[in-house]
Amino acid sequence: MAAFILHSSRLALSLNKTGGASGMKIKARFGGFYFAFLSACTIFAPMKIGNIEFGPYPVFLAPMEDVTDIGFRLLCKRFGASMVYSEFVAADALVRMVNRSLEKLAVCDDERPVAIQIYGKEPGAVADAARIVVERAHPDVLDLNFGCPVKRVAGKGAGAGLLQDVPRMLDITRAVVDAVDVPVTVKTRLGWDDSHKIIVNLAEQLQDCGIQALTIHGRTRAQMYTGEADWTLIGEVKRNPRMRIPVIGNGDIASPARARECFERYGVDAVMVGRATFGRPWIFKEIMDELRPGEVSADAAVRSDNPPMSADWKIDVLKEQVLTSVRRIDEYRGILHSRRHLAASPVFKGIPNFRETRIAMLRATTVDELFAILEGAREAVRRAAHGPMADAISE
Ligand SMILES: Cc1cc2nc3c(=O)[nH]c(=O)nc-3n(C[C@H](O)[C@H](O)[C@H](O)COP(=O)(O)O)c2cc1C
Repeated sequence: MAAFILHSSRLALSLNKTGGASGMKIKARFGGFYFAFLSACTIFAPMKIGNIEFGPYPVFLAPMEDVTDIGFRLLCKRFGASMVYSEFVAADALVRMVNRSLEKLAVCDDERPVAIQIYGKEPGAVADAARIVVERAHPDVLDLNFGCPVKRVAGKGAGAGLLQDVPRMLDITRAVVDAVDVPVTVKTRLGWDDSHKIIVNLAEQLQDCGIQALTIHGRTRAQMYTGEADWTLIGEVKRNPRMRIPVIGNGDIASPARARECFERYGVDAVMVGRATFGRPWIFKEIMDELRPGEVSADAAVRSDNPPMSADWKIDVLKEQVLTSVRRIDEYRGILHSRRHLAASPVFKGIPNFRETRIAMLRATTVDELFAILEGAREAVRRAAHGPMADAISE
């Protein structure tokens, strides 16, 4: 489906493929009047943010604090993530040049295109932070966080807190768009709570500030991470004829089939995957195999003698993830960063009596110790795969 929007003397063209649907929707607006009609042709224009072209069905790695460090981003990239996002970085801390925050700006060329996400409350400080980010890291995209629900952020009026102060949110957005020359994007939620789902209007307002893409997590702030993501409003934003910028849908995508369904049913330009990547960076290959078959080679992603996508191979991937993290930071902190992934990895789900091993994995402080535990876990996975519980093991 493609929408052509003509507005007075300005011609804006936005195209959106919805899962191979044939037919083209053309909307012409002259002097404020819209004319919409369907054509039988199939036109496909790849999604773009600024000059970055993503090809069909882009799948992004969500920004996640303490999760999407450079090592994990690189791995996800190798498995086919179309764009990866940094953990969010506090604008105030960047302006004060706090070392730990500056460290989060490290990016490398192999992971590009990469977005760095910042959050803050004061338009001037966020704009200053954006300049620092662009100067130091040269990200392909600068993303603004207006969706973080946690108290220490939203409670202080930043992140999702700005859903209660839209004029300030728009001031911040305009200030950042004016401050930097990379594409600025926004990630937010449906609204503050059930009674204030403002995303359809808000999306237009943010677009008018000059952002080049909008990510919507289909929950309200009040929901935090509970309940199910509601994609219907994401679809409504996408169907709004005034929207020209790409819309990235986010929330509860945990399988290739669901990713495809979100593209097809809600017409989004890209999907973003968060928690389902924990201990499962190969999910990007699984999704890509569904959406763009043959594009991602598992062999190229990690060194392993085991058959790609087998449980043994997945354990090799997790070991590679630990090593990447350790090489990038140091042994202790590298292992700390990997723990959440190891604990959550679906490779170990359904293994009988696995609790002790999981606890040992979470306590290990050296690579040797951790790898010995992982090799023990490998044996347990093999045994379980041939035992009576084999069907319960989810990979
Ligand atoms: C541990 C964790 C950290 C997160 N950190 C961020 C963050 O720094 N910035 C952000 O925009 N969203 C953050 N999120 C939200 C995710 O990006 C995503 O919107 C949310 O998890 C819903 O997607 P999912 O259902 O695919 O996980 C975080 C989520 C989790 C679970």
